[in-house]
Amino acid sequence: MSSMYDDLGEVLFSEEKIAEIVKNMGERISKDYEGKNLLLVSVLKGSLMFMADLMRQITIPCSIDFLSVSSYGSGTSTTGEVRILKDLDASLEGKDVLVVEDILDSGVTLSYLLKNLSARKPNSIRLCTFLDKPERRRVNVHADYIGASIPDEFIVGYGLDYAEKYRNLPFVAVLKPEVYTHEKE
Ligand code: IMP
Ligand code: MG
Repeated sequence: MSSMYDDLGEVLFSEEKIAEIVKNMGERISKDYEGKNLLLVSVLKGSLMFMADLMRQITIPCSIDFLSVSSYGSGTSTTGEVRILKDLDASLEGKDVLVVEDILDSGVTLSYLLKNLSARKPNSIRLCTFLDKPERRRVNVHADYIGASIPDEFIVGYGLDYAEKYRNLPFVAVLKPEVYTHEKE
Protein backbone atom coordinates (compact mmCIF):
# COMPACT_ATOMS: atom_id res chain seq x y z
CA MET A 1 0.00 0.00 0.00
CA SER A 2 1.10 3.58 -0.69
CA SER A 3 3.00 5.50 1.99
CA MET A 4 0.18 8.06 2.07
CA TYR A 5 -1.68 5.76 4.45
CA ASP A 6 1.36 5.32 6.72
CA ASP A 7 1.19 9.05 7.51
CA LEU A 8 -2.29 8.80 9.02
CA GLY A 9 -3.48 8.38 12.58
CA GLU A 10 -7.08 7.97 13.67
CA VAL A 11 -9.84 8.17 11.07
CA LEU A 12 -12.24 10.81 12.42
CA PHE A 13 -14.90 10.61 9.71
CA SER A 14 -15.48 7.60 7.47
CA GLU A 15 -17.07 7.95 4.02
CA GLU A 16 -20.37 6.76 5.50
CA LYS A 17 -20.27 9.25 8.37
CA ILE A 18 -19.40 12.10 5.99
CA ALA A 19 -22.35 11.19 3.76
CA GLU A 20 -24.70 11.25 6.75
CA ILE A 21 -23.44 14.63 7.98
CA VAL A 22 -23.63 16.22 4.52
CA LYS A 23 -27.12 14.87 3.89
CA ASN A 24 -28.39 16.48 7.08
CA MET A 25 -26.75 19.79 6.19
CA GLY A 26 -28.29 19.71 2.70
CA GLU A 27 -31.74 19.09 4.14
CA ARG A 28 -31.45 22.02 6.56
CA ILE A 29 -30.15 24.36 3.87
CA SER A 30 -32.91 23.31 1.46
CA LYS A 31 -35.54 24.20 4.07
CA ASP A 32 -33.92 27.47 5.14
CA TYR A 33 -33.42 28.75 1.59
CA GLU A 34 -36.79 27.74 0.11
CA GLY A 35 -37.92 30.54 -2.24
CA LYS A 36 -34.56 32.35 -2.00
CA ASN A 37 -31.92 33.08 -4.62
CA LEU A 38 -29.30 30.64 -3.26
CA LEU A 39 -25.72 30.94 -4.49
CA LEU A 40 -23.16 28.49 -3.12
CA VAL A 41 -19.67 30.00 -3.03
CA SER A 42 -16.98 27.34 -2.71
CA VAL A 43 -13.62 28.30 -1.25
CA LEU A 44 -11.05 26.33 -3.25
CA LYS A 45 -9.40 23.98 -3.07
CA GLY A 46 -10.28 22.38 0.26
CA SER A 47 -14.06 22.60 -0.09
CA LEU A 48 -14.07 20.83 -3.47
CA MET A 49 -15.45 17.50 -2.26
CA PHE A 50 -17.73 18.97 0.38
CA MET A 51 -19.21 21.37 -2.19
CA ALA A 52 -19.78 18.58 -4.72
CA ASP A 53 -21.51 16.39 -2.13
CA LEU A 54 -23.45 19.20 -0.44
CA MET A 55 -24.95 20.59 -3.65
CA ARG A 56 -26.27 17.14 -4.52
CA GLN A 57 -28.08 17.05 -1.16
CA ILE A 58 -29.71 20.43 -1.80
CA THR A 59 -33.16 19.96 -3.29
CA ILE A 60 -33.97 23.58 -4.20
CA PRO A 61 -32.65 25.55 -7.20
CA CYS A 62 -29.21 27.03 -6.62
CA SER A 63 -26.23 28.33 -8.55
CA ILE A 64 -22.55 27.92 -7.77
CA ASP A 65 -19.38 29.96 -7.97
CA PHE A 66 -15.77 29.50 -6.86
CA LEU A 67 -12.99 31.56 -5.41
CA SER A 68 -9.60 30.80 -4.06
CA VAL A 69 -7.60 32.54 -1.36
CA SER A 70 -3.98 32.31 -0.37
CA SER A 71 -3.52 29.70 2.30
CA TYR A 72 -0.83 28.29 4.53
CA GLY A 73 1.66 27.36 1.87
CA SER A 74 3.02 24.10 3.13
CA GLY A 75 2.65 24.91 6.83
CA THR A 76 -0.01 23.86 9.28
CA SER A 77 -1.05 27.23 10.71
CA THR A 78 -2.15 30.51 9.19
CA THR A 79 0.21 33.39 8.48
CA GLY A 80 -2.60 35.87 9.12
CA GLU A 81 -2.35 37.33 5.64
CA VAL A 82 -5.18 36.62 3.21
CA ARG A 83 -5.29 37.38 -0.52
CA ILE A 84 -7.84 36.49 -3.18
CA LEU A 85 -6.01 34.44 -5.82
CA LYS A 86 -9.04 33.68 -7.99
CA ASP A 87 -12.17 35.77 -7.68
CA LEU A 88 -15.81 34.90 -8.34
CA ASP A 89 -17.15 34.98 -11.90
CA ALA A 90 -20.37 36.81 -11.15
CA SER A 91 -21.80 39.64 -9.05
CA LEU A 92 -23.36 38.88 -5.66
CA GLU A 93 -26.02 41.55 -5.90
CA GLY A 94 -29.43 40.20 -4.93
CA LYS A 95 -28.03 36.75 -4.16
CA ASP A 96 -28.48 34.77 -0.97
CA VAL A 97 -24.87 33.75 -0.60
CA LEU A 98 -23.80 30.67 1.30
CA VAL A 99 -20.03 30.42 1.63
CA VAL A 100 -18.95 26.77 1.63
CA GLU A 101 -15.70 26.03 3.49
CA ASP A 102 -13.84 22.88 4.39
CA ILE A 103 -12.73 23.87 7.89
CA LEU A 104 -12.95 26.85 10.20
CA ASP A 105 -9.70 27.12 12.12
CA SER A 106 -8.27 30.46 13.34
CA GLY A 107 -11.09 32.23 11.50
CA VAL A 108 -8.67 34.63 9.79
CA THR A 109 -9.53 33.48 6.26
CA LEU A 110 -13.29 33.49 6.75
CA SER A 111 -13.36 36.75 8.62
CA TYR A 112 -11.57 38.45 5.73
CA LEU A 113 -13.68 36.69 3.12
CA LEU A 114 -17.04 37.44 4.74
CA LYS A 115 -16.13 41.11 5.04
CA ASN A 116 -14.97 41.24 1.42
CA LEU A 117 -18.06 39.46 0.05
CA SER A 118 -20.50 41.43 2.24
CA ALA A 119 -19.30 44.64 0.58
CA ARG A 120 -20.59 43.31 -2.78
CA LYS A 121 -24.23 43.85 -1.74
CA PRO A 122 -25.57 40.31 -1.52
CA ASN A 123 -29.15 39.95 -0.30
CA SER A 124 -27.79 37.83 2.56
CA ILE A 125 -24.57 36.05 3.41
CA ARG A 126 -24.02 33.04 5.66
CA LEU A 127 -21.32 30.50 6.29
CA CYS A 128 -21.40 26.74 5.99
CA THR A 129 -18.34 24.77 7.10
CA PHE A 130 -17.86 21.03 7.07
CA LEU A 131 -15.54 21.05 10.10
CA ASP A 132 -14.88 23.46 12.94
CA LYS A 133 -11.88 23.64 15.30
CA PRO A 134 -13.32 26.03 17.94
CA GLU A 135 -10.24 25.83 20.22
CA ARG A 136 -8.10 27.43 17.53
CA ARG A 137 -10.20 30.54 16.97
CA ARG A 138 -8.25 33.83 16.89
CA VAL A 139 -10.92 35.94 15.20
CA ASN A 140 -14.61 35.80 16.03
CA VAL A 141 -16.46 34.19 13.09
CA HIS A 142 -19.99 32.83 13.23
CA ALA A 143 -20.73 29.71 11.19
CA ASP A 144 -24.42 29.17 10.44
CA TYR A 145 -23.99 25.52 9.46
CA ILE A 146 -21.32 23.28 11.00
CA GLY A 147 -20.96 19.64 9.98
CA ALA A 148 -18.91 18.64 13.01
CA SER A 149 -16.56 20.13 15.59
CA ILE A 150 -13.17 18.55 16.12
CA PRO A 151 -10.34 18.97 18.64
CA ASP A 152 -7.11 20.81 17.82
CA GLU A 153 -5.43 18.24 15.59
CA PHE A 154 -4.20 18.62 12.04
CA ILE A 155 -6.39 16.56 9.77
CA VAL A 156 -6.31 15.61 6.10
CA GLY A 157 -8.53 14.01 3.49
CA TYR A 158 -11.90 14.78 1.90
CA GLY A 159 -10.36 17.82 0.20
CA LEU A 160 -8.15 18.86 3.12
CA ASP A 161 -4.43 18.87 2.45
CA TYR A 162 -1.04 19.07 3.99
CA ALA A 163 1.40 20.63 1.45
CA GLU A 164 -1.18 19.87 -1.29
CA LYS A 165 -1.20 16.17 -0.49
CA TYR A 166 -3.87 13.83 0.91
CA ARG A 167 -6.83 15.73 -0.61
CA ASN A 168 -7.87 12.61 -2.49
CA LEU A 169 -8.50 10.52 0.61
CA PRO A 170 -12.26 9.84 0.70
CA PHE A 171 -12.30 10.01 4.53
CA VAL A 172 -10.94 12.45 7.16
CA ALA A 173 -7.99 11.32 9.27
CA VAL A 174 -5.49 12.84 11.68
CA LEU A 175 -2.09 13.48 10.12
CA LYS A 176 0.66 12.00 12.31
CA PRO A 177 2.54 14.92 13.90
CA GLU A 178 5.90 13.44 12.87
CA VAL A 179 4.92 14.09 9.23
CA TYR A 180 5.16 17.84 9.66
CA THR A 181 7.75 19.91 11.45
CA HIS A 182 6.13 21.56 14.42
CA GLU A 183 5.85 25.31 14.12
CA LYS A 184 5.61 27.71 17.05
CA GLU A 185 2.51 29.89 17.06
P1 IMP B 1 -8.19 29.80 9.13
O1 IMP B 1 -8.02 31.10 8.43
O2 IMP B 1 -7.11 29.57 10.15
O3 IMP B 1 -9.56 29.57 9.71
O4 IMP B 1 -7.85 28.72 8.02
C1 IMP B 1 -8.78 27.99 7.33
C2 IMP B 1 -8.06 27.18 6.27
O5 IMP B 1 -6.89 26.56 6.80
C3 IMP B 1 -8.92 26.05 5.78
O6 IMP B 1 -9.71 26.44 4.70
C4 IMP B 1 -7.90 24.98 5.41
O7 IMP B 1 -7.45 25.17 4.08
C5 IMP B 1 -6.74 25.24 6.35
N1 IMP B 1 -6.76 24.32 7.52
C6 IMP B 1 -7.04 24.62 8.80
N2 IMP B 1 -6.96 23.55 9.60
C7 IMP B 1 -6.61 22.52 8.80
C8 IMP B 1 -6.38 21.12 9.03
O8 IMP B 1 -6.48 20.58 10.15
N3 IMP B 1 -6.04 20.39 7.94
C9 IMP B 1 -5.92 20.91 6.68
N4 IMP B 1 -6.14 22.21 6.41
C10 IMP B 1 -6.48 23.01 7.46
MG1 MG C 1 -5.39 24.17 2.83
